Amino acid sequence: MVPMTSTRKYDIILLGASGFTGGLTAHYLTTHAPAEAKIALAGRSRSKLNSVAATLTRAVDIVEVDVNDDASVQTMAAATRVVITTVGPYILYGESVVKACAEAGTDYVDLTGEPEFVDTMYLKYHEVAVRSGARVIHACGFDSIPHDLGAQFTVDQLPEDVPISVRGYVSMNGTFSGGTAASALEAMSRMGSAKKAHGLRMAAETPLVGRKVRVKVGRPGKSDDTNRWALPMPTVDPQVVADSARRSLRYGPDFSYGHFLDSKNFLGTVSMLAGLGVIASLARVSPVRRWMSNRVPPGTGPSEQKRAASSFKVRFYGEGGGTSVVTEVAGGDPGYGETAKMLSESALCLAFDSLPVTSGQQTTASAMGAALRRRLQAQGITFEVLTKSL
Ligand SMILES: NC(=O)c1ccc[n+]([C@@H]2O[C@H](COP(=O)([O-])OP(=O)(O)OC[C@H]3O[C@@H](n4cnc5c(N)ncnc54)[C@H](OP(=O)(O)O)[C@@H]3O)[C@@H](O)[C@H]2O)c1
Repeated sequence: MVPMTSTRKYDIILLGASGFTGGLTAHYLTTHAPAEAKIALAGRSRSKLNSVAATLTRAVDIVEVDVNDDASVQTMAAATRVVITTVGPYILYGESVVKACAEAGTDYVDLTGEPEFVDTMYLKYHEVAVRSGARVIHACGFDSIPHDLGAQFTVDQLPEDVPISVRGYVSMNGTFSGGTAASALEAMSRMGSAKKAHGLRMAAETPLVGRKVRVKVGRPGKSDDTNRWALPMPTVDPQVVADSARRSLRYGPDFSYGHFLDSKNFLGTVSMLAGLGVIASLARVSPVRRWMSNRVPPGTGPSEQKRAASSFKVRFYGEGGGTSVVTEVAGGDPGYGETAKMLSESALCLAFDSLPVTSGQQTTASAMGAALRRRLQAQGITFEVLTKSL
């Protein structure tokens, strides 16, 4: 553990603690942080934050921050070593926090699953964060930790310096919160601008020399790996896995990743495709998007009972250098229980673990890798090698 020698007032500030996921994160963080860790809850409503603090088993400070008030965000970023933010949709509310952390040299973690936000923040603040030493790490929840660390764990089972192919198949159940619904609908309405931001980012990145990293999109159909129906998942996850691969020679000279939803039957697969297509089209019309979003109001989410009955499993099939491996990452409620755990452990890992020196926009695999995996394993998220053949 790294000694806490910083002169900053706090080790970790949690912004958005009055929200659904923020509340769960406040509970996890305050019950799992070292006793001497200095933690504060932040948000725009002191009374809501006081209500959350009253339910916690340790004392925390309250800091008033409105993401639309740059001065309050800058004051927060300068007062802490790590900021956790659960204020989304991030493309609407996230930029001021990334900017302030990048400028202040403050580590940053969030729960975004919005590719446009990740790419836009890279273009605007990666270099700023490299100069200040801040580590800016997006997608520290179910998007994209199981996939990013799972792909890295799979690569670690394969020989070095050989072309490597990995496919991830996701099975999960559970329902979503108001914040997730609003963010997903916002992202669906902005697919054009997301594509543009990704193109600009790829053009701005330093090209790889003598190596290739590819995302293989694939088609819906029966998978040769699982012998079950598989649906390509155009989420932020494959982008994050590819980002990790670009940053590490361990992924080999030619790395490819495919990301799929594992489905039990053909009819289920087709109806899900059709349903998503309809929602994506409707989400482009703002009054309809607002109406759909209001079906699950902000601050609400699945009950404790529903969360307890939810789980996830991601199975990875990897090959390289004549070796084949099947691995699995599994845990409980993906959207909220495990997300609060993954987000909190990411912040604790940045604050207290000895990690390789990195800065700028990073991924969970590139900045924390095995250290974060060990933390999650210690808290019940499993990473297993199911089969390996040479
Ligand atoms: N990737 C994943 O795996 C995953 C999982 C779960 C959630 N998420 C994401 O996490 C985000 C939060 O979801 P949620 O369901 O927890 O949302 P939520 O319950 O609606 O909470 C949103 C929080 O943002 C705060 N907020 C809104 N505007 C603000 C402002 N101007 N200044 C400061 N704080 C402000 C709210 O404060 P008030 O209480 O004052 O309104 C509240 O604390 C969403 O983007 C969702 O997609 C991602």
